[in-house]
Amino acid sequence: MDKKSQNSFSLAIHGGAGGVYSKVRKQEKLIYDHLETVLEAGRTLLAKGGSALDTVNLCVRMLEDDPLFNAGCGAVANAAGRYELDASIMDGKTLQAGAVAAVVNVKNPVDLARLVMKKTPHVLLCGPGAIDFAKAQDVPTVTQRYFKSAETKVKDLVDKSSKHGTVGAVARDIKSNVAAATSTGGYDKKMPGRIGDSPLIGAGNYADNASGAISCTGIGEHFIRTGAAAYAAFLIEHDGLNAQQAAQKTINRLKEKVKADGAFILVDKDGNVAIAQNATVMRCGWIEHNGPALTTLQAPIRAQSQ
Ligand code: GLY
Ligand code: GLY
Repeated sequence: MDKKSQNSFSLAIHGGAGGVYSKVRKQEKLIYDHLETVLEAGRTLLAKGGSALDTVNLCVRMLEDDPLFNAGCGAVANAAGRYELDASIMDGKTLQAGAVAAVVNVKNPVDLARLVMKKTPHVLLCGPGAIDFAKAQDVPTVTQRYFKSAETKVKDLVDKSSKHGTVGAVARDIKSNVAAATSTGGYDKKMPGRIGDSPLIGAGNYADNASGAISCTGIGEHFIRTGAAAYAAFLIEHDGLNAQQAAQKTINRLKEKVKADGAFILVDKDGNVAIAQNATVMRCGWIEHNGPALTTLQAPIRAQSQ
């Protein structure tokens, strides 16, 4: 581990890929302000020795509570006009993970995912069982009207083309533990019952102290088909690639194998951040080795075939 990696923390977050760049650019400042607030909250926690796991949980909860993004209150409706949400969280130290899929009444799906991880022997809950579990755990619940009213609130603020994506956070704390969390409303007009990559460990979300933490955004089906998040981690652990190389290879592979548009954030076991994108827009921000909070709509690593 080099010097800058010792006792330093790193954090990357995203508010989803997708949308028309010229339109999303008009909301650039608003998006950056919101992302910076989340990054600084994450920094405060990590700087006082908070864990990567608590930090990604906090950041994703804040993004879920922000109607600008397609997760939590800002989730998009499915083809039946209902809101079904997916989320997951993974601890790189223990490889423990928790996830919920297609939940309809939970205010913060990432918190329920954390409880699945902590309190059950399972990784993924969905359907009536997930609702019963939420009730038993006393997590804040909401009605479908909650999502509808958040949508109305940002109607004039956010261009419809920019209401895309997923939210996610990856972190590496000062004890060198990594964690990842991802949450989404999925796809606008998706089929009822459709589950994306965000709650699937290894597809849209992955963390392992042996490699790093990854959170993906884009059309979930592509990330499921290519096992994208775990693939990036394996490139680091088994092939010895650095964060940048693993990100580049994974995003190129996505383009080559399934012609997919998408993006992901990665923080490796030493706290190096890489952000890869072949979608037109990626709302994201990061802090690398205690550095400044940076934000962009155009990630530094692009698919070669673009
Ligand atoms: N529109 C689904 C996603 O980005 O992630
Ligand atoms: N990437 C999120 C989804 O497709 O649901």
